[in-house]
Amino acid sequence: MKAAVIGHPINHSKSPLIHQYWLKKYDLSGSYEAIDIAPENLKAGVQTLIDQGYNGFNVTVPHKQAIMDLCDDVDSNAQKIGAVNTVVIKEGKLLGRNTDAYGFIQNIKQNAPQFDLKNKDVLILGAGGAAKAVAFGLAQEGVRKIIISNRTKEKAQALKNISPLITVIDWDEKQAAIEQVDMVVNATSLGMVGKPPLDISTSFLKKSALVTDIVYTPLITDLLKTEQQGDNLYVTGIGMLLHQARPAFEAWTGILPEVDDELQRLVLA
Ligand code: ATR
Repeated sequence: MKAAVIGHPINHSKSPLIHQYWLKKYDLSGSYEAIDIAPENLKAGVQTLIDQGYNGFNVTVPHKQAIMDLCDDVDSNAQKIGAVNTVVIKEGKLLGRNTDAYGFIQNIKQNAPQFDLKNKDVLILGAGGAAKAVAFGLAQEGVRKIIISNRTKEKAQALKNISPLITVIDWDEKQAAIEQVDMVVNATSLGMVGKPPLDISTSFLKKSALVTDIVYTPLITDLLKTEQQGDNLYVTGIGMLLHQARPAFEAWTGILPEVDDELQRLVLA
């Protein structure tokens, strides 16, 4: 395997840690590094990777949309989500995929296996790139209803093309909605270290409801703290990052790697 993650800046990316851990765990030879490519150099930078015989690369901020124009093929998931986070290079051609929806769903399945997503009503907070992948993933899993609340309502409205299950409510209606749903997802950056808090209470959540956050710094966000002290199921955000990396590693090596506790510890350290 000869792979990399490209972005700008790129020094904070956890992807090299993840893929290097799996290369070692599965006793494979190969390399995976972080490569900084500025937006104006994207085309030339990607051509260099092709010329140097890379099997592919992950794509992070700010290239997730721009890379789509350089791909020879973009799979249907990535087209619907409107972003590519994984590129497989085959015979000099770039095949674009999006594994974020997979990562989100697999994180829930691994860490709350008793929670069946079928026919559930879900509230998603946020309407950025992460929220799109979350909505797409949930729609594919057969949930009943997806309610989206975002500070900028027009951005939430634009997500409606992802699934007919989506309805949009005002940002100040989210507290009332929380009490009605079976699952709450924070897909905003609120609650992250250095960002404002997510100002909602989960005190009146249904007892059977699951709460999850895509933020993983801190691992237990304020949103999840209440659940940690109570009875509700909760899933932290780190698993989405770890699971989204699995299909990429599989595409490059033929092995679908496992997310284990040691990897989680390594990435959180
Ligand atoms: P990502 O691609 O990681 O989802 P993003 O596209 O920048 O990142 O989206 C960030 C999300 O957090 C958006 O839903 C954003 O709301 P807006 O669409 O209104 O910008 C939300 N967000 C960020 N800061 C916020 C704040 N202070 N209050 C409410 N929502 C906020």
